[in-house]
Amino acid sequence: MTSRAARSDALVFFGATGDLAYKQIFPALQSMIRHGHLDMPVIGMAKSGWGLDDLRKRAHDSLTGHGGVDKDAFEKLSELLRYIDGDYADPATFDQLRTELGDAAHPVHYLAIPPSLFAAVVEQLARSGSADGAKVIVEKPFGRDLASALELNRTLSEVFPERSIFRIDHYLGKEPVENLLYFRFANSFLEPIWNREHIRRVQITMAESFGVAGRGRFYEEAGAIRDVIQNHMLQLLAILTMDPPAEHDPEALRDEKSRILKSLSPLRPNQIVRGQFRGYRDEDGVAKDSTVETFAAVRLHIDSWRWSGVPFLIRAGKRLPTTATEVLVELRRPPQIVFDEPKPQEPNSVRFALSPDVAIALRARAKVPGEELKGEDVELLARHHHPDEMPPYERLLGDAIRGDPTFFAREDGVQAAWKVVDPILDDATPVHVYEPGTWGPPEADALTDGSWHEPTGAA
Ligand code: BG6
Repeated sequence: MTSRAARSDALVFFGATGDLAYKQIFPALQSMIRHGHLDMPVIGMAKSGWGLDDLRKRAHDSLTGHGGVDKDAFEKLSELLRYIDGDYADPATFDQLRTELGDAAHPVHYLAIPPSLFAAVVEQLARSGSADGAKVIVEKPFGRDLASALELNRTLSEVFPERSIFRIDHYLGKEPVENLLYFRFANSFLEPIWNREHIRRVQITMAESFGVAGRGRFYEEAGAIRDVIQNHMLQLLAILTMDPPAEHDPEALRDEKSRILKSLSPLRPNQIVRGQFRGYRDEDGVAKDSTVETFAAVRLHIDSWRWSGVPFLIRAGKRLPTTATEVLVELRRPPQIVFDEPKPQEPNSVRFALSPDVAIALRARAKVPGEELKGEDVELLARHHHPDEMPPYERLLGDAIRGDPTFFAREDGVQAAWKVVDPILDDATPVHVYEPGTWGPPEADALTDGSWHEPTGAA
């Protein structure tokens, strides 16, 4: 077992007046209070010329728009909140932080700010003594290519040991993603068939029917590969294909995830198709001649004994026909046609619907009642949805406070994922225009030796 970072006794969040805090952090904090999981000073940091009352009001507005205000929990949150207004380049800001931290010996610093500010903040945390015994939380994207990811890590690791660095990829905090991991290793029937002998092909689709939703400027710096393929999709792929961990320990699990990411072959230009929806260039903050992709489809291979030769098809995009994330694992066909079917039967498959509906479905062939030996496809379906499901940010913030790294990305895995996409970033391949409301450019069809699976979002 690896020793864990200590439980935190103060939460500091940089970017307190920003978008992430507004959409995710305040709702998570209120919910943590409701569940009795947060009782420590919560110090917001920003440079907005605000006071504490402004921040409380911002928190109130955020909650009104995201899940509603719980009167008691909000009162408690207001009591716990502190606010420091100051420049991140000014040492006085951090001296004030150190004073505000008082007796707290293990603060956790959440950097909900652009990565370009990380170096200055981390340096000042160290100089002021605020990094002593502390943890740090950072958000994806962790860098924008392999070189910048290495640089970012150097910056963080000069001050924080790896066990104190928590990299949030919110997909890892999603209940259905964790269930996928659980389902794989809590059952005995899957493992014997989970390999190249029995699996013909795997498809992962992350479809979004909306566009860049006012985030044009951010998206211009990212594109679908950096925004969701390098992180959410590859993390999902790792959970789907990893070997069972050697022991019951967060690091053993992360070791296996990293191992599979390291065995992914780097993408070549003929394994990717990039698309851009018509109209993207008219979005606010987007260049008129932008070649940034809003859709990417890739065909990946895992160079391992278990997976050699199995194609992994991933596609993700904006302005597609539906909003749904789904994994389809297609099994090989039976070796012999025993029953006289008019057309070749569909292969058996295991389908993991991750959103908006959550379900695991096994597709099989069963006989239609009657005299003839004729069949039909049936699905054995397990639906999961809990109305009180913990949202990813609440779960991950709670884990980081406790020092549990299980569902955070680790540096070696992040680097391995960058190595996969590094050769095909930016304009390494052409971008094809597609019509909004379609499944991306038709060129993507060439990546599959069958057809793409089209999730509906319904279980
Ligand atoms: C974010 C991306 O990380 O994930 C967004 O930046 C994307 O572009 C979002 O829409 C999807 O997450 P979720 O949880 O809404 O499916």
